[in-house]
Amino acid sequence: MKIKQVFENNKAWVKNKLRHDANYFKNLSLGQNPDVLYIGCSDSRVTAEELMGFSPGEVFVHRNIANMVPNTDLSIMSIIDYAVLHLKVNYIVVCGHYYCGGVKAAMQSEDLGILNPWLRNIRDVYRMHKDELNAIDDEDKRYKRLVELNVQEQCINVIKTAEVQRAYRDRGLKVHGWVFDIHSGELIDLKINFSKILEDIMQIYRLK
Ligand code: CO
Repeated sequence: MKIKQVFENNKAWVKNKLRHDANYFKNLSLGQNPDVLYIGCSDSRVTAEELMGFSPGEVFVHRNIANMVPNTDLSIMSIIDYAVLHLKVNYIVVCGHYYCGGVKAAMQSEDLGILNPWLRNIRDVYRMHKDELNAIDDEDKRYKRLVELNVQEQCINVIKTAEVQRAYRDRGLKVHGWVFDIHSGELIDLKINFSKILEDIMQIYRLK
């Protein structure tokens, strides 16, 4: 990568935007009003706006290794708080992807130093679903299923937060779990049955 090229690309991008709309940046500077909070993986192959067809200003984005929502991670908890209470998004999406390096690393027993506590959250997902996962002989299928179950569990972590519980109750905020299939470019809706999951877990996590 050449840094000089990046600035040249930027100049061309600005020119192109202004050619289509002379007020593009003026309007952008007025503020943001995104309807969606997207929580995805940092993987360079899995973009946020581009794969969903969104433009700048339309989606609030958080990306980390393996699209995690750890309960004590101040960064993701601040993102959810800000998106729900201040931006008033109507949708929260957790988007995983097949062939996720973070999920793969969590399936192996290697000591990865500072990554260990982060990956342990994914190992916890494996432990919670170990009967289903261990019954899958094909390693590739097991890996894909763990990606899906990880998305499901991170959605549950989203739902557990006080802000989301309140917004779900008061204004029908929706939480979705998706997987991006790198092989085909397709976005897959896992169609997680949240009302059932909510019923099951809310006796433990419900807040006033
Ligand atoms: Co990934």
